[in-house]
Amino acid sequence: MTENKNTYRSLALAAIDAMKKSYSPYSHFTVGAALLTKDGKIYTGANIENASYTPTVCAERNAIFTAVHQGEREFEAIAIVGGHEGSITGVTAPCGVCRQVMSEFCSPDFKVILVTTPDGDYIEETLGSLLPYTFKL
Ligand code: THU
Repeated sequence: MTENKNTYRSLALAAIDAMKKSYSPYSHFTVGAALLTKDGKIYTGANIENASYTPTVCAERNAIFTAVHQGEREFEAIAIVGGHEGSITGVTAPCGVCRQVMSEFCSPDFKVILVTTPDGDYIEETLGSLLPYTFKL
């Protein structure tokens, strides 16, 4: 575990940087995510939209799937940031689909860092608080 305030601020700043790579010509809503493994590596993602709309993939899932495809399975935290055309004016919470994807790989104490300012200020939640009674097979 690398849990500390500086680590989570760095993770928040990585999410802000990732948001710059958002491809969102339809909603104009940019999202960035930065996923921290338990051994301290960071994988990032941004939302990537599509003219047909439903193929759009959220920033969180792009980060998680990239990491899983690289063989990662142990995750500590994810930072998420979003806003209209790169603005950051408050919390962007993960959608329900992304919460379900997190639950596939992460335990209820997995930290969800919701970035609130361009300086990387954040509020800290947990997957357990955002997705109680998780569906599992
Ligand atoms: N979006 C994300 O990237 N993550 C979320 O958790 C919620 C929504 C994206 C999808 C779409 O490109 C845009 O935000 C507007 O819904």
